Amino acid sequence: MLKLLITRPIADPVLDQARSLFDVTVHAGGALSTRDCAQALATYDAILPTLGDAFTADAFAGDVRCKMLGNFGVGYNHIDTKAAAAAGVTVSNTPDVLTDATADIALTLLLATARRAGEGERMVRSAAWGGFDVKGLLGTHVTGKTLGVIGMGRIGQAIAARCHYGFGMDVVFHNRSPKVTAVPATQLGSLHEVMAAADFVVVATPGGAGTTKLIDADALAQMKPSGIFVNISRGEVVDEAALIAALEDGQITGAGLDVYENEPHVPERLRALENCVLLPHLGSATAETRQAMAQMALDNIIAWSEGRDPPQRVN
Ligand code: GLV
Repeated sequence: MLKLLITRPIADPVLDQARSLFDVTVHAGGALSTRDCAQALATYDAILPTLGDAFTADAFAGDVRCKMLGNFGVGYNHIDTKAAAAAGVTVSNTPDVLTDATADIALTLLLATARRAGEGERMVRSAAWGGFDVKGLLGTHVTGKTLGVIGMGRIGQAIAARCHYGFGMDVVFHNRSPKVTAVPATQLGSLHEVMAAADFVVVATPGGAGTTKLIDADALAQMKPSGIFVNISRGEVVDEAALIAALEDGQITGAGLDVYENEPHVPERLRALENCVLLPHLGSATAETRQAMAQMALDNIIAWSEGRDPPQRVN
């Protein structure tokens, strides 16, 4: 039997299927360091890893027995796919199945930040609410405003559809290649134009070298003072220190974040800001979605084990 390492506990039905086909080890101790990854690559025939597991170039430098990484997650910026290919390791991911759940989290953050839901919740829970207040906790109106999407892939388009059809919003976007979308939306000439035109900016790009610190101090400086910034992609896409400064200085009105530069570390200065809604990377976190992701990751590993090309291969 082929030896398969699953680096976090996954949904039981998928785990049962994996156990029926492979000699499975489940790692329950959190994210794998580069050293752990190197050891796993030397020990197992296939690995089902996820975010936070550090499959850097160094991890592939030693003995590599493993031939297949069936990543749990659409984003695979934690895997050096070139180093993997050079070591003869195929990598796959889990697109599509998490598009709706992740777009829903973007809307959760957009609405919660605009309507100051975090502050309101904290007020109620701390018994500080004094009753209906005509001028208290006034937020930003959402309906009819302009949404700016940075990265108009599957998730960006699902966010645009929700905002356009659900909230009557105009949609503008920035994408590195020209894109025709089913949702009415206008592609603007530059990132800065989108940052300046939007009332709500939502970042939905992939992570990785091509987008690291794409949203820097200059880009944030283009936003309206009333602007709200949402990131559901990867923390590294945003210069976190520049974002904190923009929020502290009142240069923008608020931010809703699901991802951070050095997860799970969230800077104290960010946690101290009332005008932020902060979630612990919940984009794909519904039971249905997480099971579908596990199934897709396993299906790719099964395809590889049967000599077929993994359907969601990325390298
Ligand atoms: C989650 O962030 C994923 O990449 O699937």
